[in-house]
Amino acid sequence: MIIPPKYRSLVGNLRVPSDKSLTHRALMLGSIATEECVIRRPLLGEDCVSTAGCLAALGVRVSGINEHSDEVTVKPSSWTSPTHPLDCGNSGTTMRLISGLLASRPIESVLIGDASLSRRPMRRVVDPLRLMGADIHGDTAPLTIHGTELTGIHYHSPVASAQVKSCLLLAGLRATGVTSVTEPALSRDHSERMLSAMGASVRHEGLTVSISPTDRLLAFDFSVPADISSAAFAMVAVCLLPGSEITFQDLSVNPTRTGIIDVLEQVGAVFHRENPRESLGEPVAEVTLRTPTSLAPFTIEGDLVPRLIDEIPVLAVLATQCKGTSVIRNASELRVKETDRIQSIGDGLRRMGAKVELLTDGMVIEGPTPLTGITIDSAGDHRVGMAFAVAALIAEGDTHIENEHAIHSSYPSFWSDFASVGLPA
Ligand code: S3P
Repeated sequence: MIIPPKYRSLVGNLRVPSDKSLTHRALMLGSIATEECVIRRPLLGEDCVSTAGCLAALGVRVSGINEHSDEVTVKPSSWTSPTHPLDCGNSGTTMRLISGLLASRPIESVLIGDASLSRRPMRRVVDPLRLMGADIHGDTAPLTIHGTELTGIHYHSPVASAQVKSCLLLAGLRATGVTSVTEPALSRDHSERMLSAMGASVRHEGLTVSISPTDRLLAFDFSVPADISSAAFAMVAVCLLPGSEITFQDLSVNPTRTGIIDVLEQVGAVFHRENPRESLGEPVAEVTLRTPTSLAPFTIEGDLVPRLIDEIPVLAVLATQCKGTSVIRNASELRVKETDRIQSIGDGLRRMGAKVELLTDGMVIEGPTPLTGITIDSAGDHRVGMAFAVAALIAEGDTHIENEHAIHSSYPSFWSDFASVGLPA
């Protein structure tokens, strides 16, 4: 895909695709509810389709899975051992969360993934599951799971990871006794909210969350709100293209995910929220943002990191245009995402002309610097591909994104959404 810097500004209303984390969880929790669940406006990008495919292979009846579907139903049924390996594709959420469900069920399964997922660390879920009594072979994919009886534990997770926390909470639903997880900083809490809304006993104390076993999870009819991690690309573009103003409709504004709003406020942006409401315990609103008058540098560190972990690639692009030194640290988790995002973003931005110093756990970016179009490979990482597409909007000359297909895993309508609000230069 070749992107000329063709938009003067972005103006209008945007309903970005539905939340990926919520769609994964709705599919998985719907499949173990007591009755049929309805998921409205699910995200049916490739990652969530991987989750649906794994559930279907386990005997769960999932209907309505196609790219244009507005409604998916999940009919709980007794799970059976799959006849072939469960393919999690490129999706860490699929592999890590489903491991928690499989570890306690009398099922034999093998979880596989693509080349990127097969390199990603799985011990972060496998180790605590083994402490619960799980029988799992493999520390990276393929993982072979022989479901067995589990015992609740109190686990101190070394990483602030919602995937680890969610995996253990899902395993805890069928364990003996209480399962609790303490994390070093609060990660996204979608699983906890959804489980509570379904009637599970979930308790919070500081950074610890606990769950008691139950086999009665109430059915839901859930309309999935729009994904703030997808909105992040247009939010940054609004900051970069003078005269822009976008209202993001039906946006998930769960406080464990709104770190990007905090950072853009540091930069100088003003947000207006309207019509606050909830959908299955998830806060939702319309959020309007216009181009700030100037762009101040920002710092991302500490507890803020898990609240915007997926937005750092595009925020690094923004930093190249902020006046002064922006710092991103305590973010070594970026090195074990779909690519090593510190390396892939840092290298690409440098090639475009930005001043970037790479740290082991982040980046220091000095701005503002003009950017020049380049040929860049997404290397199969959707957020890297989209971050460079945003950089291309302000670059001198064309940018060529190779392997742009990766974008489909979370944001199938990325190009058409930008075209729908883009005013030609
Ligand atoms: C996710 C949690 C985050 C995030 C990923 C989706 C989830 O990963 O980066 O894209 O759905 O739980 P970690 O929790 O492992 O940081």
